[in-house]
Amino acid sequence: MQTITLIPGDGIGPEISSSVVKIFEKAGAQVEWDVQTAGADIIDKEGTPLPDRVIESIKKNKVALKAPVTTPIGEGFRSVNVALRKTLDLYANLRPCKNVDGIETRYNNVDIIIVRENTEDLYAGIERKVDEDTVEGVKLITRKASTRIVKFAFDYAVKNGRKTVTAVSKANICKLADGLFLTCAREVAKEYPQIEYKEILVDNLCMQLVQNPEKFDVLVLPNLYGDIVSDLCAGLIGGLGIAQGANIGLDSAVFEPVHGSAPDIKGQNKANPTALLLSGIEMLKYINQKDVAQKIETALYKTIKEKKVLTPDLGGTSTTEDFTEEIIKNL
Ligand code: NAI
Repeated sequence: MQTITLIPGDGIGPEISSSVVKIFEKAGAQVEWDVQTAGADIIDKEGTPLPDRVIESIKKNKVALKAPVTTPIGEGFRSVNVALRKTLDLYANLRPCKNVDGIETRYNNVDIIIVRENTEDLYAGIERKVDEDTVEGVKLITRKASTRIVKFAFDYAVKNGRKTVTAVSKANICKLADGLFLTCAREVAKEYPQIEYKEILVDNLCMQLVQNPEKFDVLVLPNLYGDIVSDLCAGLIGGLGIAQGANIGLDSAVFEPVHGSAPDIKGQNKANPTALLLSGIEMLKYINQKDVAQKIETALYKTIKEKKVLTPDLGGTSTTEDFTEEIIKNL
């Protein structure tokens, strides 16, 4: 039995978390949950959306499954997600994006691995008001973070039989910041002669992704481009409801979907738990519970392929609970 930190989050987080917990239990996952609340709902009681106990729990357990947490726009508290990634130095955000059998989209054969730098860039939160009408935000790029994220991408490519790593930037405009990112990428690429190395500007990448997504393999990007391009890629394979992710550091890993807290459908029993479930399946593989991971994966894909019970984002009319029960039936 392994203890895992579970952050049920807010918005649709608690609904999809309870779905995953139920499926894990019925499938026989050897997991004990250390449930840690975080986010907007606990500020009144604890004075912060990210109490130290959450960080301590992840440091102790080394592995967490996290549902989304809301970040207020414009003002209010800083992002819990960004704070978690920075505090635990979860420097690599790994977001696989592959067509799912049974989900019809405009594209076939999408199989892209997004490796997003997770600790710096414009997400470092270095902003200042110069005067009433002017604000400055700092795009922080370092050699250390750029080198290790590109190494992560190449190591992933080698371990997983991938052929190409493409570094994404806007180095024609952000000459110093993205220029440093590319310099690091070129240096790292020399250490991996067996993997093809390419470069592309982010605007051109977006255009090509919606024209010919099947030609891309592993993409490595600074934080902001990685965030935006991963939502684009989620759209290529059927939407945010099925897009999984993981934040990986040297000491710990936090598995979480790409999507946010979806306040527009909160509490309506229609959120798709697939993205969190797929993130949980990757987590089970990471802690070496591969058999049970495979069992859940097979049941999930069977449920999707049968198309009898699907949530509205996948074209169905079923509830989160019915979809969950159908997966359990298929285990
Ligand atoms: P969102 O990802 O929450 O929602 C975008 C659209 O996708 C909405 O129409 C939503 O209903 C739909 N959607 C998302 N997940 C779904 C699911 N599982 N099933 C069915 N439909 C789903 O993005 P939005 O609205 O921009 O952000 C809402 C909040 O989430 C914000 O406060 C944002 O900061 C936060 N957020 C948190 C993240 C995290 O915790 N890692 C990541 C992204 C956003």
